[in-house]
Amino acid sequence: TRTYVITGAASGIGRATAQILRDRGDTVIGVDLQGVEVSGDLSTAAGRANAAAEATGLAGGTVDAVIACAGLSLPKVVTAAVNYFGVTEFLEAMRPALARSTAPRAAVVSSMASLQPVAPPLVEALLADDEAPALAIAAELAKDPQTGNLIYSSSKQALSRWVRREAPRADWAGAGIPLNAVGPGIVETPMTAELLATPESTAHVDAVVPMPLNGHQGPESIANLLIWLTSAENTHCCGQTIYCDGGSDAVLRGDDI
Ligand code: NAI
Repeated sequence: TRTYVITGAASGIGRATAQILRDRGDTVIGVDLQGVEVSGDLSTAAGRANAAAEATGLAGGTVDAVIACAGLSLPKVVTAAVNYFGVTEFLEAMRPALARSTAPRAAVVSSMASLQPVAPPLVEALLADDEAPALAIAAELAKDPQTGNLIYSSSKQALSRWVRREAPRADWAGAGIPLNAVGPGIVETPMTAELLATPESTAHVDAVVPMPLNGHQGPESIANLLIWLTSAENTHCCGQTIYCDGGSDAVLRGDDI
């Protein structure tokens, strides 16, 4: 059996992933604002460091895989903090515990939104890995609902690019740790409940995110892919964002691969 640390484990995709792993006998240490093994706030640097230390301690020092699911879709500054730094800084803080595993793996949840319009200055500022100036740009975007919506897509595009940039480096590939992302379409979780609450809002979502294969997806569709990416069987998948989105990427990006 393996020991997994899963952020966002109290709800949605993270909860579904934790459940599948527990049901098959693996050990899961959940990290979330509340309701799981480690209560921590991934929107702050101190919260990330404390959560990583606590999770490492509960695991006895060795963690086989980290799966980062915690995220927000609100048009607010905190979305940039949690979706980008709450993943990248948390993963960095977990690297020593991963390095003690014989088959360490890491995976994060990006989104098909990474393919949608973004605010390029926010994407670049996030990728510079300096939180204060990046969040200052997000604060400007958050002043207007139109630009506020770009915070989510920008955080996810930056996250996919961070995975691609970091995965081949010494810290990850060089240490034998596959690092990858998954890009879901519309997953039925508390995050999307409001978006899918009425026929009108659902029609709008479906126009923006076409899903010709089987429509909206359950959280298990993403959980099972995250579990494979973080299994010992994954020996050579490195730096990818794997879209598991009912065909949204194939429709929207077309030949531009
Ligand atoms: P969810 O809202 O059900 O779960 C997200 C979890 O993250 C919650 O338990 C929440 O408490 C936790 N979280 C939020 N802020 C936090 C913080 N500051 N510190 C610690 N934990 C925090 O949402 P869902 O749908 O399961 O989303 C999981 C991931 O999947 C997110 O990164 C989301 O952006 C991504 N995603 C979701 C899609 C969807 O259609 N539901 C589509 C594409 C990506």
